Amino acid sequence: MKALVLAGGTGSRLRPITHTSAKQLVPVANKPVLFYVLESIAEAGITEVGIVLGDTAEEIRTAVERGGFGDLDITYIPQSAPLGLAHAVRIAKDFLGDDDFVMYLGDNFIIGGITDLVDEFRVRRPDAQILLTRVPDPTAFGVAELDETGNVVGLEEKPEKPKSDLALVGVYLFTPAVHEAVRAITPSWRGELEITDAIQWLIDRHRDVRSTTISGYWKDTGNVVDMLEVNRTVLESIEPLVAGEVDEATEIVGRVRIDKGAVVRRSRIVGPVIIGPDAEVTGSYVGPFTSISEECRIEDSEIEFSIVLPGSSITGVRRVEASLIGRNVEVTPAPRAPAAHRLILGDHSKVQISS
Ligand code: G1P
Repeated sequence: MKALVLAGGTGSRLRPITHTSAKQLVPVANKPVLFYVLESIAEAGITEVGIVLGDTAEEIRTAVERGGFGDLDITYIPQSAPLGLAHAVRIAKDFLGDDDFVMYLGDNFIIGGITDLVDEFRVRRPDAQILLTRVPDPTAFGVAELDETGNVVGLEEKPEKPKSDLALVGVYLFTPAVHEAVRAITPSWRGELEITDAIQWLIDRHRDVRSTTISGYWKDTGNVVDMLEVNRTVLESIEPLVAGEVDEATEIVGRVRIDKGAVVRRSRIVGPVIIGPDAEVTGSYVGPFTSISEECRIEDSEIEFSIVLPGSSITGVRRVEASLIGRNVEVTPAPRAPAAHRLILGDHSKVQISS
């Protein structure tokens, strides 16, 4: 069995974070979503992995190569344009050969991994096995319609009037039967070769398509609240560890991981919290469910329930809450006079000011 990981796509929904970085590299508990994908593939006992790359190819390749996935045999497959998930399967045909495979979208996050699913698929080998999950806004997804006995009878991509609240999760298991389907379909209204249509093609021909409904799922719907929530869930199970430097005047409470090279002085850290490599926290409070990335500086500030991406600094600000702060951002108080907010914000930024 092989794995096909899709890491093209632009990530318009997570702007502004994805203006400058691939959506598959958005960090959850200081680790790119894509790394959880690769780890869960390895955990399921799959070693041959194809990664389909688009415009952000170089950034993703560099991150994966530095990410320590030496046990995986990775083939990079360039996709000239984001022409759809079924198109990705078409161009990966040489890599996939006649093997069964799991296709995993690199911006999808499944808490608990995919090992059980892969094991079950290996035993039963339906032509396609899809995963479904209940979502509040199905119009942003592929949506499944089931009959009374739970069989999938129809799939629709981003429907205006969804027939259920069961969204297609971005993990699909296939036998080589899918290759005929991806060759047979034509582009959808959004100009893409949809995997949803390929699976519908199999259903229409009475092939064996099964579904499993799961919970514990996240994808980048552009909703920062969702992202803070998945960060919170993952932080709840981190291993406490102090590999950095913590002075005597600092108090650490609960599950806290302080990575190598990080320095914490005169601060109170209440977990679950991660402080990444080479970050500096001085005279500050870092509260529950916060991920501070590498090389950040938090000084004389208070922050909780937030994500701060690499290289950013927060100085003299209290209190930051429920926030997602991008890379190399500086947050400071404004000078006293004139009393004004001074903002330099990128496109699609969102700011809430308490004054
Ligand atoms: C794709 C699929 C959709 C699925 C979703 C899950 O959507 O087309 O059916 O529900 O992934 O992540 P896209 O990310 O291309 O909008």
